[in-house]
Formats: sequence, C-alpha cells, structure tokens
Amino acid sequence: MVPFLIVYASWSGNTQEVAEMIQETLIAENIEVTMYRIGGGVIPNPRHFDAVLFGSFTWENGATPDEVKDFVADVGYKPDNVYVFGTGDTQFGGDALFCHAAVKLARFYASPYEPLKIEQSPRGVQEEKVIEWSKGVIRHWKDLQE
Ligand SMILES: Cc1cc2nc3c(=O)[nH]c(=O)nc-3n(C[C@H](O)[C@H](O)[C@H](O)COP(=O)(O)O)c2cc1C
Repeated sequence: MVPFLIVYASWSGNTQEVAEMIQETLIAENIEVTMYRIGGGVIPNPRHFDAVLFGSFTWENGATPDEVKDFVADVGYKPDNVYVFGTGDTQFGGDALFCHAAVKLARFYASPYEPLKIEQSPRGVQEEKVIEWSKGVIRHWKDLQE
C-alpha cells in the first residue's frame, strides 16, 4: 500500500465527482488514499504522501480559484509527483481557456503527466476518461519507482 493524497477545490460539485472517481479507481488498485477538499479543515502535509493528485475547476477568463492559490501558498513548497486534474466548460472561452487552471497548476508543479480535463460533470461518457487517466497515473508512478 502506498499513500496518495487527493486535494481538490470544488464549488458546484463537478471536480468533487472527478476526485471521487479517481479515489475509487486508486482504491481498487490497492492504493491508500487521503482525500482533502480545500477549505475543509487542517491541511494534510503533502510530504507524507508518495504522490499528490491536485484538482481544480477554472474560474473567470481561465483564472485559478482564489482558494486554490491560497492553498498553494499555505503549503509553501512544491512536492514531487503532482498529477493535476480539472473540470471546466468550453463555452467560457473555447479550448484556449478550457480547464486553464489545471493547465497552469500542472506547469507550476512541473507535473510529469498530462493534466486531465473534464467538461462539467464526469458522469456518463467521460467516466472512462477519468478511470483511464487514474490508471495512467498509477502506471507512471510505478515506473518512477523502478
Ligand atoms: C463565472 C464562471 C466562469 C467560468 N470560467 C471558466 C473558464 O474560463 N474556463 C473553463 O474551462 N471553465 C470555466 N467555468 C466553468 C467551471 O470551471 C465548471 O463549471 C466547473 O466544472 C465547476 O467546477 P465545480 O463544480 O467543481 O465547482 C466558469 C464557470 C463560471 C460560473
């Protein structure tokens, strides 16, 4: 068992749904998971985890939500092995701004893996995309251990 941390910000629930799907997939692959919703009390110490999966929605004009920026500042250092997922909506600025907060977070943390971008709720056709991405993260992380 290896401990992974899932950290996410969610306002209307879409990013939370993605986080929960990722959690289910990791648990099914024998990964021990701690979930933390930003704003939900004491921040877990990312140093205690082998990987951090960081999720955010995107706000106006491709912005990163303030609570996510505050979280990044509060943690105060950049853990290795940050994998980023996000939800967004292409109607707010097309492909250029779609899930832009996730793209920026991945860049900030020098994520070694392509960020996951989900349009609104992951339920339905995008569910498989979330599961495949989660399994890809596990494979990537395992490869790093060899
Ligand atoms: C005022 C407003 C601005 C938004 N701007 C963007 C944007 O620039 N890019 C994007 O991809 N999504 C944008 N969205 C869509 C949200 O990121 C999307 O609905 C997301 O799934 C919400 O996540 P949550 O349900 O976890 O809070 C915007 C939504 C609102 C309400």
